Amino acid sequence: MKKLIIANWKMHYGPLKAGAWVRAFRRERLPKDLDVAVAAPFVSLAAVRASLGRASIPALAAQDAFWANEGAFTGEIAPVMLSEFSCAYCLVGHSERRINLGETDEMVAKKAAVLQKAGISPVICVGETETQRRKGEQDKIVRAQLTAAVAGLKGDGRAVPVVAYEPVWAIGTGRPCTPQHAKDMHGNLRGVLKKKFGAAADHVRIVYGGSVDLRNIGEFLTTTGIDGALVGGASLDPRNFALLCRAAIPA
Ligand code: PGA
Repeated sequence: MKKLIIANWKMHYGPLKAGAWVRAFRRERLPKDLDVAVAAPFVSLAAVRASLGRASIPALAAQDAFWANEGAFTGEIAPVMLSEFSCAYCLVGHSERRINLGETDEMVAKKAAVLQKAGISPVICVGETETQRRKGEQDKIVRAQLTAAVAGLKGDGRAVPVVAYEPVWAIGTGRPCTPQHAKDMHGNLRGVLKKKFGAAADHVRIVYGGSVDLRNIGEFLTTTGIDGALVGGASLDPRNFALLCRAAIPA
């Protein structure tokens, strides 16, 4: 399976800075055998696409979408609108949305299903909080999040889902989990996918997120069961992010 690295800009970079980022990133050398995507704010997607020109890397990703394709939903963005932009991926259920906006497993499941129907691979974010980890509940919590999110999804055909395991306590803290912790959890999540999708589960990538940087990416991506990374802070500088992509797949 080709590894996948997604830059998650979060609430950074309006159209001007987004365009400049893409132009700078395009000057960098990238490993051939790697899928790269950029999850940009909605208002910057057009600038990202325009700055890409004919280049297909990085692929476009959105950070969220609504669970319907049309209607009286003020302020929301529909999956079909994102597919008009040729978005290949869309994050759903990022912990920052679960925490700040009260997103539930049910909402995440509905979003993922409508995205997949629109031809966009949902990137389902799951992860335990520090408190849940201290109580030893992490396996159960993360399994429940994923089981709920994939309920309405297909494992084969177009728009194969991606799973991002992001322990909440590791996000933006400079304190990633150990590759061994991620490996164990990815194994746990792989079990959920197998139960739901059968053999097709083998095509679903499970990526790790949470304080991934230039120094630790190599170790994560050479760990069995880790199919890529979701990168926040370390993706904001285009050159640093390109170096990270290169470190991910040593030549
Ligand atoms: P981080 O964010 O790399 O800054 O920890 C990752 C994420 O939230 O996707």
